[in-house]
Amino acid sequence: MSKLSLDRILQSQGFGTRKYCRSLIEDGEVSIAGEVIDDYRASFDTTDLTFTIFEEDWLYREHVYIVLNKPANFECSRKPSHHPGVLTLLPEQFTWRELQPVGRLDHDTTGMLLMSDDGAFIHAQSSPKRHVPKVYVATTHDPVTPELVAQLLAGVQLHDEPAPLAAQTCRKLDTHALEIVLEQGKYHQVKRMLAAAGNHCSALRRVAIGELMLDSLHLEEGEWAYLDASQLALLKPSND
Ligand code: URA
Repeated sequence: MSKLSLDRILQSQGFGTRKYCRSLIEDGEVSIAGEVIDDYRASFDTTDLTFTIFEEDWLYREHVYIVLNKPANFECSRKPSHHPGVLTLLPEQFTWRELQPVGRLDHDTTGMLLMSDDGAFIHAQSSPKRHVPKVYVATTHDPVTPELVAQLLAGVQLHDEPAPLAAQTCRKLDTHALEIVLEQGKYHQVKRMLAAAGNHCSALRRVAIGELMLDSLHLEEGEWAYLDASQLALLKPSND
């Protein structure tokens, strides 16, 4: 059992500074099990705790793990420069909780983006040693040929990489579309691999990470969802 005072609970969940959280409590904005709690020192077991604030119910979460169906024209950086940041698509509490993207997608790449405030999870997921496959659908400027697919599977040499990088799997989907699965997450990797193979990527969408498919989550672009334990378990290397 983990007991915390109500002001600490609200602060940990991203409702603002401790001072502000205390003022919310004293103003009668917070209730638990239908009862307004106006003493910020009152403490509660956080296990499965639901509290109501501004008439909205929140489940206490030690850490937050979410998936966003990222639209184009949003940046993953916390300090975006040319487009709004992905955090603007999420509740304000997540900014306070310092949610971070797990790896980055380019501003014009759409699809599956994981975000969390659990540093160990972010580190483990992004580690190159973990080999979590990421599945992309790329639209190409020139037709997808068998030679292009073969080149991507054999490996292409990118500038500033010591050795050629190969797709884990790659298959043609349409005259101008292919699915490519990568285990690494190098900067602009899909676009650079396609360019190195003599084509050009005109649109890119990430459709799966590990065995978790974006389609299975039924999210419109710009929508997000919490990931539960069984979904998190799917974010794993293929040989786990
Ligand atoms: N590869 C790219 O080129 N861009 C992305 O956003 C992700 C992978």
